[in-house]
Amino acid sequence: MSEAIQSDATPGGGESIIEVRDLVKHFPVQVGILFKRTVGHVKAVDGVSFDLKRGETLGVVGESGCGKSTLAQVLMRLVPQTSGSATFEGRDIFKMRGSELRKLRRSIQIVLQDPYTSLNPRMTVGDIVGEPFEIHPEVAPKASRRQKVQDLLDVVGLNPEHINRYPHQFSGGQRQRIGIARALALRPQVIICDEPVSALDVSIQAQVMNLLGDLQDEFGLSYMFIAHDLGVVRHLSDRVAVMYLGKVVEIGTETEIYEHPTHPYTQALLSAVPVPDPSLRGQRQVIRLEGDVPSPVDPPSGCRFRTRCWKAQDLCAEEQPELISRLGGHDSACHFAEERQVVP
Ligand SMILES: Nc1ncnc2c1ncn2[C@@H]1O[C@H](COP(=O)(O)OP(=O)(O)OP(=O)(O)O)[C@@H](O)[C@H]1O
Ligand code: SF4
Ligand SMILES: [Mg+2]
Repeated sequence: MSEAIQSDATPGGGESIIEVRDLVKHFPVQVGILFKRTVGHVKAVDGVSFDLKRGETLGVVGESGCGKSTLAQVLMRLVPQTSGSATFEGRDIFKMRGSELRKLRRSIQIVLQDPYTSLNPRMTVGDIVGEPFEIHPEVAPKASRRQKVQDLLDVVGLNPEHINRYPHQFSGGQRQRIGIARALALRPQVIICDEPVSALDVSIQAQVMNLLGDLQDEFGLSYMFIAHDLGVVRHLSDRVAVMYLGKVVEIGTETEIYEHPTHPYTQALLSAVPVPDPSLRGQRQVIRLEGDVPSPVDPPSGCRFRTRCWKAQDLCAEEQPELISRLGGHDSACHFAEERQVVP
């Protein structure tokens, strides 16, 4: 383990289960059909550091393309990192081989956004939820698997008698429950939820979020919960990391991010969250972001948010702002960080 990882392992207390330091993932941009040439790199994740503490939910929020899913895939060893480090229970994720890597693959599971495409339509629910036992037979002997799958269906609120049904015989919310049952099969410690409710109706979203909350309490799970929208993750998150163009721009507790945001991008995202109380709607200032997210192949110099920031000054183009505490509270990557209350 590097010194950097040891030195600031658990800011704010609590034992870290995952520690990420300066993680980078660049995808080459290649042209040519027969002879491929690399003409640049998509800087999908570009120097990200955070801790996931045992038993907590860390919300990871940002617009489409800011690198959320890539971050998840790198941590799960589904794509190789470009540089940086990540540990799981103090051990280097990127150096794991053999049985240690198998254990990592049991310990960290993912629930994906689209329950329509992430479940194989030709497999029964029993086969889908029980498939992880085929890959990790040590977790459940063959004779006990059917019962284990039925128990899992019960835990996520599905009828265990529906074990022989196919995905199309379930509603969207029920399909997401199947995905969650499958993720639970190997008794993981961490579940990465990659926009698990984005494709569901609002009423069903709440049910699935409540289920995830209950399962966290029951099994002591740690969640990394990815979403576009700060509104979706608030209820479940203990802390939130806001990402923009491959970087974390602000990270703090739920109260710090929602009630005392200091980065202009967080403030703009918050101003887009629907206000449930109609009497408060008229009081909120709406911050409209101008322009599109710049290309991650050639991000702006200095602060990446400067092309859309209403506070940008010369320094913002010259110097990249560090993710640090400038106001004595949580960390924010803005030279001119200042608190602005957005949601009344
Ligand atoms: N395999 C790949 N090859 C090249 N570029 C990729 C690859 N995967 C992702 N990217 C690019 O990396 C950037 C980050 O993508 P990523 O999917 O991580 O974003 P995201 O935050 O999850 O977005 P969304 O909210 O739309 O799911 C995007 O510009 C994307 O086009
Ligand atoms: S560093 Fe400058 S451009 Fe970036 S968010 Fe702060 S004020 Fe805006
Ligand atoms: Mg994604």
